[in-house]
Amino acid sequence: MNKVRQINALINGENYQNGKWVDIISPTTNEVIGQVPALTKKEIDDCYQVAAKAQKSWATTPLLERIAVLNKWKELMVEYQEEIANLIVLEIAKGKTAAVTEVTRTIDYIEYTFEEMKRMHPRTYTGDSWGIANKMGIFQYVPKGVVLAISPFNYPVNLSIAKIIPALVAGNSVVFKPASQGSLVGLFLAQLANVAKIPAGVFNAVSGKGSEIGDILVENPLINVISFTGSTAVGTGIAQKSLRTDLILEMGGKDPAIVLADADLELTATKIIKGAFSYSGQRCTAIKRVLVDQKVKQALVKLLVEKVNKLKVGNPEDDCDVTPVINEKTVKYIKGLINDASKKGAKILTGNKFEKNLIYPTLVDNVNQSMALAWEEPFGPVLPIISFTNVDEAIKIANASQYALQAAIFTTNINSAMTIAHALDTGTVNINDQTQRGPDLFPFMGVKDSGLGVQGIHDALISFLRPKGIVFNWSDKKENK
Ligand code: G3P
Repeated sequence: MNKVRQINALINGENYQNGKWVDIISPTTNEVIGQVPALTKKEIDDCYQVAAKAQKSWATTPLLERIAVLNKWKELMVEYQEEIANLIVLEIAKGKTAAVTEVTRTIDYIEYTFEEMKRMHPRTYTGDSWGIANKMGIFQYVPKGVVLAISPFNYPVNLSIAKIIPALVAGNSVVFKPASQGSLVGLFLAQLANVAKIPAGVFNAVSGKGSEIGDILVENPLINVISFTGSTAVGTGIAQKSLRTDLILEMGGKDPAIVLADADLELTATKIIKGAFSYSGQRCTAIKRVLVDQKVKQALVKLLVEKVNKLKVGNPEDDCDVTPVINEKTVKYIKGLINDASKKGAKILTGNKFEKNLIYPTLVDNVNQSMALAWEEPFGPVLPIISFTNVDEAIKIANASQYALQAAIFTTNINSAMTIAHALDTGTVNINDQTQRGPDLFPFMGVKDSGLGVQGIHDALISFLRPKGIVFNWSDKKENK
């Protein structure tokens, strides 16, 4: 049995706890593996006060000095990358290789963000093009103030740092709230930030029970920006409760893989299996439905079954592809979706086997639009297959979802690919590849119930900055010289 590890919060440069704790449960064993502080309203309110105060001097700290301090934090992440990856494995049951990739990808993200920030030069306009002489405005980028960063369980390092670093390097202060499952590694990163000597109050990390501090966190009037990744239900609640705050919300998805009759089926099946089952399908960008031309359905299904049977299923410590899902609630939900589809005539091709939180990768054929599995986001290793008879029908089914994060199109015909890509209402369309956020510099955005605002390195910086104009006026008259 693992020992129970306690990690403190970080408020105003101090390792903080108040004697009350939230348990962190292992998805693999369902046992308590750690604890993080259960903070209260007063402590959260105080945290915003110190963040707002510290931001003033951080904003006027020269950019290269800000980068130098943040770079020390990054170097500590490099030094401790093995420990960080092991915490990810322990806390959210991600396979070891994927956990290590998450950390190295994050280090690359930080370095690129520093470089991008150096190039956020002011914009200059003249009044000339508006028929006004002797007027020139310089619009420089200034920080917005206090950022609340709320990260999800599934990428507890990457999706935390992808909010925190652009916010901080841009001169904002941050209050960071990791997902409960993901708090151990989130607060561990905060401990490293403190070792790096990020000035007190500039970066704070808090934890607690969502039911007790959720509203308090988002309703504080000192917040200027909320950057959130998580479920559509929670993100929508934040949008309703927040007060005159800029919002960046990355929420659910039901990304389709649309397979045309002329697709390279070997490539398509490989990409679909990776896109659907990596980290057990617990990615907002996972492929969550296959829409396939009925002419090639049998051939595709055969390949999918072959490939799914080669996936390594088991514990994250054994570096498996499919590992236990995050909690028992998710298992129950997925069982319900599979049973509903099965009762309504769907055919289960593989999987539908459960051992505690481990769900064997499940392919479900003959799914139709009457089944919840066609529309709901399982956030687990289950993939419905829906057939279509013509491309218009495929586009209609794809666009009928409440979600519109990404889509994939598999075809060897560039004309079909471009026509369908333009007809889909998702944030991004991938041609002949799985749906995915990376490479992390790309703009990343969902529409409809999938999100609001844009991430990716340049756009993340833009979302934490506002233009501040200084306008020069002058006269040509000699007597004024
Ligand atoms: O699930 C969220 C997303 O950030 C995952 O990234 O590149 O694996 O799609 P990626």
